[in-house]
Amino acid sequence: MSEMQENQGENIKEKNHIIEIEKRDVALEDVAKKAIQICVKSFGLLCGWLGRAESNGHVKLVAYFPKEASSLKQVALRWGEIELSHGLAGKAIKSGKPQICQDIKACPSYLPWKGFVTELGIKSFVAIPLIGNGRAFGSINLYSNKIGYFTDSIMTSLQNYVGIFSFILKYSNLYDSTNKHLNRLKALRNIDMAISTGSGIKLVYYVALEETIKQLGADAAAILSYDPHAQSLKIAATYGFEANNLEGFCVSIENTIEGKVLKKHEIIHIPDLRAISPFDSSSIDFYLEEGFRSYYGAPLTARGERLGVLQVFFRKPLTGGEEWVNFFEALAGQISLGIDNAKLVDDLWNRNLELFNAYNETIAGWGKALSLKEDETAGHSERVTKLTVEIARRMGIKNPDLVHIERGAYLHDIGKIGVPDSILLKKGKLTEEEWEIMKKHPEYAFEMLSPITYLNKSIDIPYCHHERWNGTGYPRGLKGKQIPLSARIFAVVDVWDALTSDRPYRKAWPKEKAIEYIKEQKGKHFDPGVVNVFITIIEGQE
Ligand code: C2E
Ligand code: SIN
Ligand code: SIN
Ligand code: FE
Ligand code: FE
Repeated sequence: MSEMQENQGENIKEKNHIIEIEKRDVALEDVAKKAIQICVKSFGLLCGWLGRAESNGHVKLVAYFPKEASSLKQVALRWGEIELSHGLAGKAIKSGKPQICQDIKACPSYLPWKGFVTELGIKSFVAIPLIGNGRAFGSINLYSNKIGYFTDSIMTSLQNYVGIFSFILKYSNLYDSTNKHLNRLKALRNIDMAISTGSGIKLVYYVALEETIKQLGADAAAILSYDPHAQSLKIAATYGFEANNLEGFCVSIENTIEGKVLKKHEIIHIPDLRAISPFDSSSIDFYLEEGFRSYYGAPLTARGERLGVLQVFFRKPLTGGEEWVNFFEALAGQISLGIDNAKLVDDLWNRNLELFNAYNETIAGWGKALSLKEDETAGHSERVTKLTVEIARRMGIKNPDLVHIERGAYLHDIGKIGVPDSILLKKGKLTEEEWEIMKKHPEYAFEMLSPITYLNKSIDIPYCHHERWNGTGYPRGLKGKQIPLSARIFAVVDVWDALTSDRPYRKAWPKEKAIEYIKEQKGKHFDPGVVNVFITIIEGQE
């Protein structure tokens, strides 16, 4: 569980709100920047920027990522200066459709910004419109260093992401809505939570209730979500109740006001709750204990599906006017939309999770295939992975890098699948030709893994684990810090594990001898800093 989720958990307990999110306005730029960052990182892209459609027809840069790509500011400026119908960002906004340029040199607007393209190494480009309430209010513009990078499948998942960001940005201030009151829903406290922990719906609930209370002058509000199997309505979120633990609160849809709202599919107003008998509605006592006098309930539905009920309570008698009721209805509609959207987000997240598990199984499968082939190195991958991650953590590497390192360590010798068994399993010393083939295993790994986007960031270890600090390693003869840190860490662990294990070509060395060897290779084969951390861990285990 992440730190953030834990904190959130504490808040829930402390303040007895079902959902409690820190009430802090997040600057639009931060949200936009996070959106770009997530796109760039998740899709292995070079850089990107988010533009807002201005009423004068220009596209204004709101945020870009990474900070090294600051020349994007000028690129964006140029997009903005030219007519909307020119640049791809403008086209995307105008047409509401993604604009792809698979080879930047073939793009009509290439020449004016050739300098930036070359400087940043841009090869292909996409502009995807941000759409809210049926119109484009901006675009997310992303650049890749590969020609033809934006394939159909990449585009499908990119558009999913951008759809989510549209939704989120709409609720921050970017969305220049004519609907003033809805625009006040600048609720985005934490984009990470909304898209990555599957708490999208909760965020919507929270924002919606806060706004409902403010706009309608209600004392309390609740969203009940409909459970079709149990034929009941469960509390999903509340705001303004005095009672502490509402989490289990649940009413049947039979013989309750709440159920009536859902089933009749219309707004129900109860001017005086005291007029309702507990026999007619099981929750009535609870509401009276809260000191509520008047009640309004509205059904929540999306695409013909019953989602639940929005209800507001007043401690003083209230009968809203026509405009008030219309607004209540509009809010319920907006909340329904939000829940529906958030459900899509959560589904997307779950689908990604499935994909993720499938990938992890693939990795595990490959690892097994290799250990079967190598026979004697059973358990080697698991051991070196564990120790590598431990050293990396002590050296200050954090997630998500640790995950990439973990996968990389597990797959470090995957390239040996390309080495014939006669060489791999040879009992004695390798001949020169055999050695040349054996030394290809890091390059084989690179060829195997680089087409897999998911493993792009895990490639350093398989590709660079036989490089040496003093530059005498292979395949590229990298030296010192040219070697990725993860590979420098891994090299120590790999040799340690190899030396202390039986190999077809020799018996295992005693631990002391292996430690001596590693110390002796400090500054030659190995990064001295890594050796120090390694020694602390190994000697601590004795
Ligand atoms: P491996 O067996 O997993 O060994 C990984 C690394 O541990 C080696 O990388 C080397 O740096 C270190 N290492 C392993 N055994 C010894 C040893 O007896 N003495 C010393 N000083 N270091 C050792 P390297 O050398 O680049 O080898 C890569 C892979 O090539 C090895 O992976 C192994 O699969 C194969 N290989 C290396 N030497 C021989 C050999 O003499 N016979 C056979 N059949 N295979 C060999
Ligand atoms: C992830 O799923 O953690 C990111 C994909 C990757 O490894 O590049
Ligand atoms: C890594 O992911 O390998 C750590 C960063 C570095 O290469 O120094
Ligand atoms: Fe290796
Ligand atoms: Fe190995």
